[in-house]
Amino acid sequence: MVQINRGNNAPPPPPVQRIPLIAGNWKMNKTVDESLALIDEMLDDLNAYEEVETVICPPFIALFPAMELIEDTEVKLGAQNMYFKDNGAFTGEISPLMLREVCDYVILGHSERRGYFHETNEDINLKVKAALKYDLTPIIAVGENLAQREAGLTEEIIGLQVEIALREVNSYDASGIVIAYEPLWAIGTGRAASGEVANDVCKFIRQTVARLYDQSVGDRVRIQYGGSVTPDNISEFMSQSDIDGALVGGASLKAGDFVKIVARTQECLAKKK
Ligand code: 13P
Repeated sequence: MVQINRGNNAPPPPPVQRIPLIAGNWKMNKTVDESLALIDEMLDDLNAYEEVETVICPPFIALFPAMELIEDTEVKLGAQNMYFKDNGAFTGEISPLMLREVCDYVILGHSERRGYFHETNEDINLKVKAALKYDLTPIIAVGENLAQREAGLTEEIIGLQVEIALREVNSYDASGIVIAYEPLWAIGTGRAASGEVANDVCKFIRQTVARLYDQSVGDRVRIQYGGSVTPDNISEFMSQSDIDGALVGGASLKAGDFVKIVARTQECLAKKK
């Protein structure tokens, strides 16, 4: 095996380039017809921003026709949830085996799933492993509520969410996943975190991943911020060191706003270079 001796004066390796990822989580909004109309309205514009990866997460039943609409573009699709079994008697559930035919990403552990549908960190870990088995990229959502933040528990809560979600996930798979930091107090409230507050937590998430694996996995994992992201505040997030994109709720339902968020993300990239 050839050993490369860099010596003391060798230049450091180039920093890892993390491609920014803007994902629109439509939640339980839009019929199939409305979904296709909304995608149609923004598809050409989204496709034009080549340096930003864009993912649309419509309701399950719109995924298949949406796949036909976006083919031949760079825009990708994601599901909003998934069960961890391949198939079987699980009425109402959708499996990774089904999703992999229609999308590349799946949001797992969104706070609305954790809150309304009682999903635990352990459930989310099962889903993360099942998604990876079928080459779906999980967007693992984590976040603290207001009481937890005020009690100084943010890092404890989020550290545990990240650690359990990634249990038994190997380092190769871990470097490809996406983690979305979504503080509950910022979701749908119009009160986004400041860029600095969001970046502190995203940095902590990256350090947690580096501690669980190694620095190169920490450097590669993409971390999004989510919670009242708009065209007006996206640049504040995208100019931070550890924020690699956004998981957008309300603003992803308006073609003009979502396109602007992607456009401003690409502008920030140009400024960072
Ligand atoms: P809002 O952008 O509507 O606050 O929603 C954020 C969110 O929950 C995205 O997953």
